[in-house]
Amino acid sequence: MTEAKTIDKTGIDIQKIRADFPILSRKVNGKPLIYFDNGATAQKPLSVINAIDHYYREQNANIHRGVHTMSQEITVAYENARATVQKHLNAKHAAEIVFTSGTTESINLVAHSFGKKFVSAGDEVIVTAMEHHSNILPWQQLCEEKGAILKVVPINDAGELIMEEYKKLLNAKTKIVAVTHISNTLGTVNPVKEIIALAHAQNIPVLVDGAQSVPHMAVDVQELDADFYCFSGHKLFGPTGVGILYGKEKWLNELPPYKVGGGTIKTVSFEKTEYADVPLRFEAGTPHIEGGIGLAAAIDYVNAIGLDHIAAYEQELLTHATEQLQKIAGVKIIGTAKNKASVISFVVEGIHAFDLGTILDQLGIAVRTGHHCTQPLMAHYCVQGTVRAAFAFYNTKEEIDEFIKGLERAINMLK
Ligand SMILES: Cc1ncc(COP(=O)(O)O)c(C=O)c1O
Repeated sequence: MTEAKTIDKTGIDIQKIRADFPILSRKVNGKPLIYFDNGATAQKPLSVINAIDHYYREQNANIHRGVHTMSQEITVAYENARATVQKHLNAKHAAEIVFTSGTTESINLVAHSFGKKFVSAGDEVIVTAMEHHSNILPWQQLCEEKGAILKVVPINDAGELIMEEYKKLLNAKTKIVAVTHISNTLGTVNPVKEIIALAHAQNIPVLVDGAQSVPHMAVDVQELDADFYCFSGHKLFGPTGVGILYGKEKWLNELPPYKVGGGTIKTVSFEKTEYADVPLRFEAGTPHIEGGIGLAAAIDYVNAIGLDHIAAYEQELLTHATEQLQKIAGVKIIGTAKNKASVISFVVEGIHAFDLGTILDQLGIAVRTGHHCTQPLMAHYCVQGTVRAAFAFYNTKEEIDEFIKGLERAINMLK
């Protein structure tokens, strides 16, 4: 068979792609692994594994500090990784890319530093009803500390933001809006460009939680006009423990340091410290060097496939899974927005999500069960938890069919 024959109409060469992910050929409980827990973390291609391996075999040294050759080499590689992220997000300057430990830390950084300088008693911060706890708690804590008020944009039954309500919440007291690009639980793709434009009309900055969007779609921070954009390496097929805060240079320059220590300074004396320029001002201590290198390899990998191809292929998986799930009696899909990414949450009448997940696991099928760190959203739908299948471009319709068979079997056992 020629290579071209394995490429489907969305441009995805599934055989070639699956061969790039060694873990996909392992068995779980004696069955071939079917990995649908991509919303929690994604698997890593060989190019990422090799980049990390190469780092420890050939490049290990600390960055930004040494005159010796290896330190200089790895400093260049690390800064090249930053440039890769910059290009990937279409940020204007490399200085707008801050390496963090992940989305959670990126949001904490902004809540802490922005909050310290710009939020006071009586001010308001807007989040939405579908946020991950990581995009609620930092703001909630800030509001408690400052005596500010957390406002929440409600959603409709389909799991879409009610934009009319959002517009009503924006006012002169609003200091920042924090919204997820794609809901990790519902799969809803939020109209962040419109959300940002509406906030900007009143000079309010917007932070976008991109943890679930970067693995599924191309993101252009200039086109969105986002003030802050956050994501995690591990959900983008890169290493754990590394993430990104994109911030417009004008904002980052305004913000006080978050964590302080080595690497964040120009000069230190016991009387006074002068902090470094951005982004180093926000990168205290030795960073996750192999994380940055691995993240750049992951970005190169998805770009070689093409995010447009990935998005088209994943939409086919989503449609197929939705159609199959809808045929099963008692299954209710939670999150039916018109614009969805390849994430499906569902409940089965009378059966606990955890029990379904446990039986599926016996069949080698990894799904996520529970509240997905979105307890307020669970309360909105009056459910304790859901089963979530989140598909990546290395998943197949055949895997979805196996999952559907497994689910039917589990339901028959449990009802
Ligand atoms: C929408 C969303 N935001 C934030 C996070 C937190 O990401 P991390 O744990 O990598 O910091 C997640 C993780 O599932 C998420 O799905």
